[in-house]
Amino acid sequence: MKILIVNGPNLNLLGQREPGIYGTSSFESYLPTLRQRYPDVEIDYYQSNVEGELINRMQQDGFTVDGIVLNAGAYTHTSIALHDCIRSLKSPVIEVHISNVHQREPFRHHSYLSPACRGVICGFGLDSYRLAIEALIG
Ligand code: DQA
Repeated sequence: MKILIVNGPNLNLLGQREPGIYGTSSFESYLPTLRQRYPDVEIDYYQSNVEGELINRMQQDGFTVDGIVLNAGAYTHTSIALHDCIRSLKSPVIEVHISNVHQREPFRHHSYLSPACRGVICGFGLDSYRLAIEALIG
């Protein structure tokens, strides 16, 4: 089984960025624990701050992998292009957020991506990614 994790803008700064909201560990330090936990799952990882690069990578892998775990960061709340991309793919996409976006500013309550995704997981910190993998395995 092969899963692609895609992180969008500013998520390269996890660990330093607003630690009260996003925690103190970087994604690079979290990823090995995820890979150890699911030794039978091949987990690829891609991060970009550029919307079109996220689309390029999802188009590249989105017909062959068993699922994509997508945290599109703030593009979640703005991007019709990512919505269209997700709808174009064969692989199911799970939308994830580290924070509970519904407890935060009103502009974070709407997602352009949710209607195109298989499901949404938010608010469990970095464990949101693991829960999304569980959902794809299940
Ligand atoms: C986020 C929530 C978004 O609103 C925000 O723009 C992010 C991170 C999260 O993981 O909680 O960059 O997607």
